[in-house]
Amino acid sequence: REQRIKDIYALLEEASEYYQQQLREHSTKDSAVDYLKNRGLTGQFAARFGIGYAPPGWDNLLKKLARDNDTKLRLEQAGMLIHKEDSERYYDRFRERIMFPIRDMRGRVIAFGGRVLGDEKPKYLNSPETDTFHKSRELYGLYEARKFNQSLDRLIIVEGYMDVVGLAQYGIGYAVATLGTATTAQHLERLLKMVPEVIFCFDGDQAGRKAAKRALDTTMPVITDGKQARFLFLPDGEDPDSLVRQEGCDLFEKRIREALPLSDFFFKTLEEGADMSSLDGRARFSNEALPLIDQMQPGILKQMMQEKISELTGLSLEQLISVNNLQEATSP
Ligand code: GTP
Ligand code: MN
Ligand code: MN
Ligand code: MN
Ligand code: MN
Repeated sequence: REQRIKDIYALLEEASEYYQQQLREHSTKDSAVDYLKNRGLTGQFAARFGIGYAPPGWDNLLKKLARDNDTKLRLEQAGMLIHKEDSERYYDRFRERIMFPIRDMRGRVIAFGGRVLGDEKPKYLNSPETDTFHKSRELYGLYEARKFNQSLDRLIIVEGYMDVVGLAQYGIGYAVATLGTATTAQHLERLLKMVPEVIFCFDGDQAGRKAAKRALDTTMPVITDGKQARFLFLPDGEDPDSLVRQEGCDLFEKRIREALPLSDFFFKTLEEGADMSSLDGRARFSNEALPLIDQMQPGILKQMMQEKISELTGLSLEQLISVNNLQEATSP
């Protein structure tokens, strides 16, 4: 098994080199190079992230890397080849796509994301879960962020590959992206071991705002005093990549500085649905907020958030807690 995993890492590295070479040499490379240029990507940053090109065709990688049947099997286990049901046939998973290698913390290639050059669907294709790739754990750009920053004070969590690369190119080289999954507690625990602050910055659309609320739920039980989570909301229709290209590094960094602290976002979200001018509204608000705050790690932030509820309702913390327990005990 050890040897098998080693072989898989080696093949993934070879595949990454192959895709980068195709971006330089393939007869259709212009379509890919033009695409990247049109998106404003420089050669320097394409190289920093090891961006490559999977040319059109069903068996380019297969022919290049699958020396024997054993290697074919390894490439399938690495997520790079698809084995056609009930046959001997294998074919390339990634065809005619811009290729983003995903690295683990040690810099080993563990998976790929591939983007079509146009508007076809699916726009992105990611490697499947494999022995070397666990989406709920890994973050795109984390290796590069650590490698190219002497010290890291914060990390920004964005949605997409191009957000990570675009921000880096504009001097904000500390963004990471989840890989087509929601941010998990595992992701957060990992990041918060490295930096005191994470900033969520999802796309300025319905999906992005939903993702922020989900991230709030995931973060609350994980955050501890001394660590901070904040939320940066982008104008409608923008994502970090599009916005930093429009307004540049300084304005984007200003947005980062002004991002909402977790507690502000939490209360703002709950207040949106509540009528805070009536007792009934404030009671409902408190009943919703208290169990969520209760999940937090013991500490000053938790205490202060509970006290805010106490101010809103005019009830003491002891009263709030006893009311809350009473409700839990009598609910069905
Ligand atoms: P660009 O158009 O290249 O700027 O993409 P984007 O990153 O802005 O795309 P979007 O905001 O739609 O998606 C954000 C991230 O979600 C992408 O980087 C992918 O990781 C993932 N994603 C988007 N579309 C798909 C898809 O069709 N399939 C899968 N598996 N993942 C996707
Ligand atoms: Mn098989
Ligand atoms: Mn989006
Ligand atoms: Mn985008
Ligand atoms: Mn986007």
